[in-house]
Amino acid sequence: MYDIAFARIIHIISIVLWIGGVAFVTLTILPAVKKFKSKKERIDFFEKVENRFAKQSRITTLLAGLTGFHMVARLGAWDRFLDLSFWWMHAMVLVWLVFTLLLFVLEPLFLHKKMREKAEKNPEKTFRNIFRMHIVLLLLSIITIVGAMAGSHGWLFF
Ligand code: HEM
Repeated sequence: MYDIAFARIIHIISIVLWIGGVAFVTLTILPAVKKFKSKKERIDFFEKVENRFAKQSRITTLLAGLTGFHMVARLGAWDRFLDLSFWWMHAMVLVWLVFTLLLFVLEPLFLHKKMREKAEKNPEKTFRNIFRMHIVLLLLSIITIVGAMAGSHGWLFF
């Protein structure tokens, strides 16, 4: 029984560090970087910060996934994925999948190189796209957290 509580603690600490970091990058770092005079410096600085954050996020994403699936197994909750009132379970897996793909596959394989190339050609547009992508991911994560907090305490909305 305590293993479920323990998994929940690790799950939430991972989410706090990971999504909290996404919020910090989106709402603090990116607007500050936007004020840099040199457009090239914007991307350089942003890359340095994001690179450090990406390393940390790989660990927290992994822990969130492991503890999440452990809870699903121990709670016998697989059938929730067949029920739309548990949309927040799907949302958790979706957010996790998007970040896992970004951090473990797309970023190391080509995203980093592609962003550099685009930034060389059109720094303004590249920066705007980076900001937009962060806002979308942050909003999706917050909606998921609201649904998961309410849902796991019995408020299913529908
Ligand atoms: C593979 C991915 C994930 C799986 C399998 C998973 C699974 C779970 C499970 C089984 C629970 C407990 C539900 C219950 O007690 O009824 C839970 C709770 C929760 N999860 Fe996830 N999760 C995943 C990813 C995420 C992500 C990405 C977020 C945030 C964006 C998140 C946020 C939460 C929150 C806020 C709770 C509520 C904890 C509470 O109030 O007790 N999870 N998750």
